[in-house]
Amino acid sequence: MSKILVTGGTGYIGSHTVVELQTEGYETVIVDNLSNSSIEFIERIQSITGIRPAFIQADCKDTEAMKRVFTEHEGIEGIIHFAASKFVGESVEKPLMYYRNNIDSLLTMLELMPQFDVKGIVFSSSCTVYGQPDLLPISEESPVKTAESPYGNTKQINEEIIRDAIHAGAPYKSIILRYFNPTGAHPSAEIGELPNGTPQNLVPFLTQTAAGIRKELKVFGNDYNTPDGSCIRDYIDVVDLAKAHVMAVERMLKNAASPQLEYFNLGKGEGVSVLELINTFEQATNLKVPYRITERRAGDIEQIWADAHRANEILGWKPVETLEDTLRSAWKWQLKQLAGTTCLPAD
Ligand code: UD1
Repeated sequence: MSKILVTGGTGYIGSHTVVELQTEGYETVIVDNLSNSSIEFIERIQSITGIRPAFIQADCKDTEAMKRVFTEHEGIEGIIHFAASKFVGESVEKPLMYYRNNIDSLLTMLELMPQFDVKGIVFSSSCTVYGQPDLLPISEESPVKTAESPYGNTKQINEEIIRDAIHAGAPYKSIILRYFNPTGAHPSAEIGELPNGTPQNLVPFLTQTAAGIRKELKVFGNDYNTPDGSCIRDYIDVVDLAKAHVMAVERMLKNAASPQLEYFNLGKGEGVSVLELINTFEQATNLKVPYRITERRAGDIEQIWADAHRANEILGWKPVETLEDTLRSAWKWQLKQLAGTTCLPAD
């Protein structure tokens, strides 16, 4: 059984990926500093799969702690590196914290991999690297544009670090996954996204508004050059996204002929506007969401959606969840939090 280190494995996408890895027979070791996640997720993963993942509370920047992880959990074959600070607004206020956290943690992994004979690393990147694309849908060949935020810049820099290390002869492979907009929760509602304070992302804000925690949802602008004037994104179900990681690990570690470095877009290939998403949520749940059109949000891209053919053809990945199902799962997760069964991390 292959052993995979999942950094950030108690987080939103990380926890869903651990579930899918375990389901496919992988042994998982989670390292997380719990800065934006809850230890309770270890129990919750176990309640879904029946398997308790190994867990070490540590910071990925801490080389000595990471050496202990690789020594004590001998035989780690691959890494999925999620651990990172991820709030765009916070990154503008605390750029040095973002550069330190996100870049140092990757450097530590890459430096230790050869010492412990780790064969590959899957890196969590974002469609933010494309900025506002000139052509849609956006393929992996589209140019990377100047980042809009320190957070986005850390994703670009980390992609470059991996590329440069591999060009310089590093003895491992890497797959870089560029996510579009991860949404929803596990159908069991045992795991999902725990927003840190007031949600900045659309779907957590929407479900909190539907739950009466927020008075109204603000739709940031209806004067964009799109059919209904609101911004367009590609919302990808978090379970579908998690499954792509398992396929990436499989290819990276088991397919000797696969290239040393590959990039994949992970989106559904469908552009959905903010107003369409609200409408779909209302239909899927029979709820009414109070919303108001407000001014545009600074830094927002008008429209972006993926050309995900490469992931479909090479990884054999096909997202299956409909947007209705994804939004229903987000709502079920919200209800579970309302029922008070989930510990929210301190703000
Ligand atoms: C943002 C980040 C992206 C990051 C992702 C993580 C930017 C520019 N991009 O994506 O780098 O990887 O989060 O999930 O910040 N909206 C509203 N009202 C709200 C919240 C959002 O109308 O209360 C709209 C936004 O204007 C946008 C869409 O909903 O059009 C999606 O927004 P959001 O969920 O914040 O994601 P992104 O901005 O696409």
